[in-house]
Amino acid sequence: MKQIALVMVGFGNVGQAFARLLLRKKPVLAEKYGLEFIVTGIITGRHGGAINSGGINLTRALETIQRGQSLDILSEQPVPANVTDFIFSSSADAMLETSPVNHHTGQPAIDHIKAALNKGMHAITANKGPVVHGLAELNKIAAMRGKRFMYESTVMDGAPIFSLFRGPLPAADLQGFTGILNSCTNFILGLMEKGMSLEEAIGEGQKIGITETDPSADIDGWDAAIKVAALTSVLMDIPLKPQQVNRTGIREITPAMLQEAQQAGERWKLVCTVRREGQRLLEASVKPARVAPGSPLYSIEGTSSYVEFKLDVLPGLGIVEGNPGPDTTAYGMLADLLNVLRGQ
Ligand SMILES: NC(=O)c1ccc[n+]([C@@H]2O[C@H](COP(=O)([O-])OP(=O)(O)OC[C@H]3O[C@@H](n4cnc5c(N)ncnc54)[C@H](OP(=O)(O)O)[C@@H]3O)[C@@H](O)[C@H]2O)c1
Repeated sequence: MKQIALVMVGFGNVGQAFARLLLRKKPVLAEKYGLEFIVTGIITGRHGGAINSGGINLTRALETIQRGQSLDILSEQPVPANVTDFIFSSSADAMLETSPVNHHTGQPAIDHIKAALNKGMHAITANKGPVVHGLAELNKIAAMRGKRFMYESTVMDGAPIFSLFRGPLPAADLQGFTGILNSCTNFILGLMEKGMSLEEAIGEGQKIGITETDPSADIDGWDAAIKVAALTSVLMDIPLKPQQVNRTGIREITPAMLQEAQQAGERWKLVCTVRREGQRLLEASVKPARVAPGSPLYSIEGTSSYVEFKLDVLPGLGIVEGNPGPDTTAYGMLADLLNVLRGQ
């Protein structure tokens, strides 16, 4: 049995889901892959951290954080307050990074990933910021250190998007893509079709935990724009920042507009589109659009998401992800980890 040590930066929805997944998959990881994972360090923003070279008891860590207590009580030694100091003082094979996204700079997650790679760890993140603001530099450091920088969960959570293009689509030329990449606005538009106002629909989303207290990143299209930028930067090798995406959110969409579309047999969706000609982008946009029943976007309901790739060899390759959330995101991170360890 090979033991793999992990450190976790961030222990919120996704970090906790990852810990639960590690506990649930422990038998299969041992039997099928001959791997035993231990978490030697966890650090958070306001809930302290823990270091234990023999492995933190994840069940206790989950109970502690759910009680709202600091993880410090689980630590065998004082935890550095500074996250990069914490990473440098940790001894692990890989870091799982799940700190909150910064759409504009990608920090501090970029620094966390640099520290982990420089310390000789693979770095796996669910945070989109480092992918669009630090991709080239992080890939360069990873290559220099003989480690990997992985980010499957940053777009469509656990659905295999980046790994699909790494493996099963050799020599395919991606010419464009279209899709619904923001779950929150798709859910809100669905409620507004039933007559709710934008504010009521946001309130409903907040009740079930899919809408942030400050919903502007979703409503104004930033989350969709950063995903567009991540897909374009990685899959097309055209560096694109979310600020460069032609972005319109859903604030101007009214229940009356939604009902009028429905009467005409159509629906409003927040649609992401990228088209290229060679290395020149013809379009990179996030904007509300009316879609007809013939479009695959029409039937994407609730929090589900969808992307359709236009490749020279496959003109319409579509992927739907139903009911995403922290658990599916955690799975994308585990898949990254296993793929790294298997050299894929
Ligand atoms: N939720 C999803 O389904 C989903 C899907 C795809 C991608 N993502 C991405 O995954 C990441 C995590 O999402 P989440 O829902 O787990 O967020 P979350 O619940 O807000 O958790 C964020 C975690 O990061 C910690 N943190 C905050 N600032 C930090 C810092 N400067 N250094 C280290 N840790 C810090 C927080 O600690 P405190 O709570 O103590 O402040 C918390 O443990 C985000 O980048 C998000 O965009 C999430």
